[in-house]
Parts: sequence; structure tokens; C-alpha cells
Amino acid sequence: MNKFSFYNPVKIHFGRGSVEYLRKGLPQYGQNILIVYGGGSIKANGVYDDIMKILSDLNMNVFELAGVEPNPRVETARKGIAICKENNIDIVLAVGGGSVIDCSKLIVAGAKVEEDAWDIVLKKVLPTEALPLATVLTLAATASEMNSGSVITNLETKEKFSWGSPACFPKFSILDPAYTFSVPKDQTINGVVDTMSHIFEQYFNNASNTPITDEMSEGILRTLIEVAPKALKDPTNYDYRETLMLAGTLGLNGFLSLGSRGDWATHNIEHAVSAYYDIAHAGGLAILFPHWMKHNVQVNPARFAKIAVNVFGIDVKDKTDEEMALEGIDALSAFWTSIGAPNRLADYKIDATYFNEIVEHCMVNGPFGNFNKLQAEDVRKILEMSL
Ligand code: NZQ
Ligand code: ZN
Repeated sequence: MNKFSFYNPVKIHFGRGSVEYLRKGLPQYGQNILIVYGGGSIKANGVYDDIMKILSDLNMNVFELAGVEPNPRVETARKGIAICKENNIDIVLAVGGGSVIDCSKLIVAGAKVEEDAWDIVLKKVLPTEALPLATVLTLAATASEMNSGSVITNLETKEKFSWGSPACFPKFSILDPAYTFSVPKDQTINGVVDTMSHIFEQYFNNASNTPITDEMSEGILRTLIEVAPKALKDPTNYDYRETLMLAGTLGLNGFLSLGSRGDWATHNIEHAVSAYYDIAHAGGLAILFPHWMKHNVQVNPARFAKIAVNVFGIDVKDKTDEEMALEGIDALSAFWTSIGAPNRLADYKIDATYFNEIVEHCMVNGPFGNFNKLQAEDVRKILEMSL
């Protein structure tokens, strides 16, 4: 393992009815609260009412920012920042999936500085403090509820970048699996693909002797492969939703990269693709990841063979590492296709028109990826393989 320091201060309240913790968790921060949410799913499934009842019992002064987009826009965060500054907001409560939480992270950081929010995303301004943030998660996928990262889109410049700051860790997050019963099929699939992709990004690292994190990663992947099809057939089954939710959080709360540094190249390419085409993050990952893997098998065939055998049950008899690796990648593609994930850019009607721009977006900070550094020609090749 590499030497490491680890810090994650997020308090998690997990389980049915855990929204009740708001009664204890919120008042310590003050009375003025901004609720941030998306396009209305929380009104349709009753989550909004549950929260408003508690806030009314607490006599809080409630402000609202509705309409956070999937792939949240910097403009929306700017609106939230203005509300915070004008109304002396004491705490922000994000209620939704990764997009709502990511947007809220930019709001809590932006509320404490004079500069424009996009300068934070571009890392020209490094936030050292933020308003307190709490979250009620309604979609298992990104782990934004238990990390300090955020991904924001600027449609004007066609850019989508991730940024983060320890100041933006939520103070606490409420995770009630029953709040995910209403997640539609396509978003449930996306959540599973995103969680699995986070695990892959971290699994493909160059550290030696990582048996604990390898076993944790392989175990979560095997569990998702077993449970995801059941959850898709039976979306209001609490046990299945509970498993997906814990998997999502563990997938990117830092535990799986203790002592190693993940790759993250595929996420970088996907962010560039969604900056141009505004597609679902996990849809892009489902298409790109198997091709990133095929492109990189030679970097460490044994690592790919290990995951092929331990997660996808590939038979080792008389095979080279490379053969097992390729069978494992095919098994991954077959699994994602079987649950309904897209597998070609053409599924989103994406062709090579903007490949130059997408490659340029990816290369903005130079060659990238920690398992293997990708150059512009590697990115182009992976995109072409994905057509
Ligand atoms: O907007 P509403 O009406 O809430 O509907 C949302 C949205 O349309 C819906 N939804 C959420 N919970 C629901 C529900 N529908 C019914 N019932 C519920 N309980 O689902 C749709 C997608 O929501 P979104 O928040 O966009 O999905 P997700 O959680 O997958 O977040 C995706 C965003 O997170 C970023 C992605 O790039 C993308 O912008 N990521 C953030 C990361 C992080 N902060 O650590 C890491 C990830 O790798 C990722 O890049
Ligand atoms: Zn992701």
C-alpha cells in the first residue's frame, strides 16, 4: 500500500424513517434553511412532505431552490448562492441524487466567497470554508452524500468538471432506502453502473499489497451483480434497495482507495462526453468503461485477470492472464447489457462530430489517468472503439 492519511467526517443515518434525525441534526446550525431539490420527484414520492412537516415542527424559516438539473448547471448554483447571501442562510439541505448534492456543495462554498462560482469549479478559488450542508439521499449512485467532491456543468462553455473541498463534506446525510423505491428503472440501472464504475476506477491502481481493499471491492461488485437484477424486477423491495444504497455510498466514500490511488481516466472522458451531449453520467460510463479496459489490459494483465476470476467467475484453466482479462471484460459488458445499460455511443445518437473537442476537453490538464497515463490519441481510440 501507499502511505496514507484518511479523513471523512460525514455522519450517516441509515435506515427506514431516518429522516426523523433532522429534528435533532438541524437546529444546532440555526433557523434559516435553504432546501435544494431537483425536478420534482421528491414532491411525487412524499419525501418533500416528510421534510416540510419536520421543518414546520421545528419552526424553521424555509427557503427553496427547485429545479436542479441532472448534470447540474453552474447557473443554478449561482441562484442558490444568491439566496444564501440575501437571506442569511444558516444551513443548506440537499434533497435528491448526486446532481442536487453536487450543486449544493457549490452553493455552500460559493456563499462564503465574493468570486464567481465557476472560478471554484475551475479551482482558481480554493474554498477554505462553507456553509453547513446536510443531505437526504434519494438515489443510490454517486456517494456524493459521503464525499467532498462535486461535478458541475457550464453549458455556455460546454465544460463539465469535478472539484472538491474538505469544507464541503456534508455534516450528516440521511439514507432511507425506502426513499429510493420510486427511482425509475433507467436511473436504477445508472446507479448500479456508476457504483460499479467507481469501484473499477479505484481497483485499477498501481499500489502493491492491497488485499483488504481488493476483497472489499470484489465483494461489493459480486453483490451488485447478484442483487441489481432482483432490484430491477422488484423495485419496492426494501432489502434490495438497502443493498444498492450501501453499495453506492461505500463505492466512493474513500474506503476503497485506502492506500492506493485510483485511475479516474474513464470518468474524465465521460465528463467531457456529457459536457457535449448532456447524457446521463452512468450511460456514458457503461459505454466507455469496457473500452478503457480493453485499451489498458496490457498495462497489468494479472490485475484484469484477478477481477475476471474473482468477480465474473471466469474459469482459469489453460488460459493466459490476457485471455482471462478479455473474457472478464466481455462478461462485464454482457452484464450491463443484460440489465439494460447502453453499450454504444450510437445508442445516444453520438457520432464522431465532436471528438476533437471532447479530446481537447479531456486533455485540458495534460495526460491523465493514474493506472495508465492517457494521451490524446488514446482518448480518441477509446472514443472510436465506443462508437
Ligand atoms: O430531478 P428529480 O426530479 O429529483 O429527478 C431525478 C433525476 O431526474 C431522479 N431521481 C432522483 N431520486 C429519485 C428520482 N426519481 C424518482 N425517485 C427518486 N427517489 O433521477 C434523475 C437523476 O438524478 P441525478 O441526481 O442526476 O443522478 P445521480 O445521482 O446519478 O447524479 C449524477 C451526477 O453526479 C455526478 C455526475 O457527473 C452527474 O452530474 N457525479 C458526482 C460524483 C460525486 N459528487 O462524487 C461522482 C460521480 O462519479 C459523478 O460524476
Ligand atoms: Zn461516477
